[in-house]
Amino acid sequence: MSVFKDAGHLFRFAGLFVLAFLLFLVIRGFVVPKTFGQYGHYRGAAIGEVGAHPIKFAGHQTCEICHTDVLDVKKSGKHAHVNCEACHGALASHADDPASVTPVKPDTAVLCARCHTASAAKPKGFPQVVPADHSNGLPCQTCHNPHSPAMAAGGAK
Ligand code: HEC
Ligand code: HEC
Ligand code: HEC
Ligand code: HEC
Repeated sequence: MSVFKDAGHLFRFAGLFVLAFLLFLVIRGFVVPKTFGQYGHYRGAAIGEVGAHPIKFAGHQTCEICHTDVLDVKKSGKHAHVNCEACHGALASHADDPASVTPVKPDTAVLCARCHTASAAKPKGFPQVVPADHSNGLPCQTCHNPHSPAMAAGGAK
């Protein structure tokens, strides 16, 4: 045992590692959520918690049941494939109870610019304008119907 004659400090050092590992296990036991790993590398209970969130979006089919007039205008226009809530925001609360939740009308200066402000990053074919130059300071809906925005001879299309 002469090799280990002066090895006391090595065993003390190894003991320190063992202690640190035990401490790690204890702390881990406290901080790792109970359902972690139940189904995979995530907290199993998270599925139920996310599922319990209230649904915020109604979906365009729901809007169209009541607002058939808007649908009639929109379905043949250039915004046919832009869904109601992409512009109006999440409105499940209104769809559930139209009498007590009245949506605010979107501010077109913000809304239209969000999608149509000219940018080199947008696909070339996508209609884009420099809002200030294009609209002369007038609100977009002065000339464009938001639900059917294209301008053509004889009116919007
Ligand atoms: C159950 C029927 C119903 C559903 C579903 C519904 N609405 Fe409405 N909506 C109404 C009624 C009723 C009004 C109030 C009409 C009024 O006072 O002129 C209204 C008003 C609005 C207004 C405001 C109109 C204004 O003059 O200021 C907007 C915008 C609107 N709805 C958008 C939507 C969108 C988007 C959806 C889908 C998420 C939707 N609605 C779903 C019935 C409905
Ligand atoms: C491209 C954006 C856009 C989309 C898509 C859109 N809306 Fe609108 N909507 C607007 C704007 C902007 C106004 C406000 C116009 C104004 O202030 O004159 C408006 C107004 C309305 C109004 C008030 C009445 C009116 O006609 O002005 C209703 C109701 C409405 N939208 C329902 C809908 C429904 C239902 C859909 C889906 C079928 C839809 N909207 C899709 C932008 C949009
Ligand atoms: C969520 C994104 C989005 C918003 C917000 C939006 N648009 Fe559009 N817009 C589109 C898309 C997508 C098209 C169809 C592009 C295509 O046909 O390639 C379109 C088409 C158009 C066109 C037709 C251009 C042509 O081809 O002649 C006009 C005009 C227009 N939008 C104006 C508006 C105005 C005004 C507003 C605000 C009321 C608005 N848009 C809000 C996405 C949007
Ligand atoms: C004074 C009337 C007027 C106003 C206000 C106006 N537009 Fe237009 N817009 C037009 C006309 C007319 C056209 C079609 C002729 C053309 O292509 O320039 C058009 C075309 C467009 C196009 C299609 C461009 C293309 O390259 O196909 C878009 C997108 C558009 N407008 C968005 C907007 C937005 C966003 C606003 C608000 C910031 C707005 N417009 C305000 C008159 C107007």
